[in-house]
Amino acid sequence: MSRQIKQHDELRLLITGAGSKVAEAIARILLMSPLRHNLYFTTSGISGFAHPDGEKIIVCDVSNRKHLKELCLYIQPHVIINTAAYTNVDRAEIERQQAWKANVCIVENLVAVCRLVDAHLIHFSTDYVFDGEHGPYVETDTPNPLGYYAKTKLAGENVCIGGNIDYTIIRTNVLYGYTEQKKHDFVSWTLHQLDKGKPFYVVSDQFSNPTLIDDVGYMVEKIIRKRAQGIFHAGGADWVSRYDFARAIARIFRLPEDLVQPISTRELRQLAPRPMRGGVIAYKAEALFGMKFCGIESGLLTMKRQLQSAGCHAWIL
Ligand SMILES: NC(=O)c1ccc[n+]([C@@H]2O[C@H](COP(=O)([O-])OP(=O)(O)OC[C@H]3O[C@@H](n4cnc5c(N)ncnc54)[C@H](OP(=O)(O)O)[C@@H]3O)[C@@H](O)[C@H]2O)c1
Repeated sequence: MSRQIKQHDELRLLITGAGSKVAEAIARILLMSPLRHNLYFTTSGISGFAHPDGEKIIVCDVSNRKHLKELCLYIQPHVIINTAAYTNVDRAEIERQQAWKANVCIVENLVAVCRLVDAHLIHFSTDYVFDGEHGPYVETDTPNPLGYYAKTKLAGENVCIGGNIDYTIIRTNVLYGYTEQKKHDFVSWTLHQLDKGKPFYVVSDQFSNPTLIDDVGYMVEKIIRKRAQGIFHAGGADWVSRYDFARAIARIFRLPEDLVQPISTRELRQLAPRPMRGGVIAYKAEALFGMKFCGIESGLLTMKRQLQSAGCHAWIL
């Protein structure tokens, strides 16, 4: 479907949501890749961002189809990687319009421009499209989203699938890792709680397989090289509760593990319902791309090393 790319062509890649964790990881991996490419980003300006020099970052509201169309006609991207999303699971229950606009309308716009310029769309989704009754899940399992965020993400997937374009959907879960932008994730939240030196509560009955963003960046590079299409799951090697993950974070960062106290989902009363046994099985991606997603110990050690080389904060020493 998307236009032929000759061997000597430099690939033009456009990443939406420059400020996302995943965008930064993809950019980092692409910088080290032998793939000949020219990388462009869009940002809504909602978040700050700090990507390495030499990259092109364009302020563009991608929910505005006219603006997106003008931009893509100018850049003529071969591949568009959509990392822009409304990702606050609880707030999405209240800010439904914003969540739908970001997670569905933007995807509709991207699909329309992919048709226009014959580009391949790589789109990010989540294990939350499943109900968490029987996780972790493979690509062929049947979605059954519980909360509003989850429903918007499944709707976004369906827009890609029905869009008559070349598409790849990457479902991932509990992303963590080093970002120059010091983006919020579960690890940074846990480290800040530990830093306060007081006990705090983490749910012990929600299970997932935390995923290092560097591994996701690596997988995206492989998808681009192989022009792989369809749905792929991207998830770490260890399937653990949030409580166990938080204890592992304390251990690796040499902070007091017993500050982490268990609490049940029922007691915590989060606004949006959560899949209890979530997570994704990544065997399909690992087999096709010849890669292995790391477990939490090696992922956290990688993140710790990256933080140390960037000279960040005392809790890593
Ligand atoms: N984080 C996770 O644990 C996780 C788990 C499963 C799936 N995912 C999926 O993976 C993708 C990337 O997640 P992430 O955690 O890296 O994202 P993130 O750090 O939360 O960043 C999302 C980015 O999207 C843009 N954005 C936010 N609200 C927007 C809005 N209303 N309209 C347009 N753009 C908006 C912002 O970038 P700009 O300010 O640069 O525009 C923001 O930095 C998302 O599709 C998410 O659903 C994430």
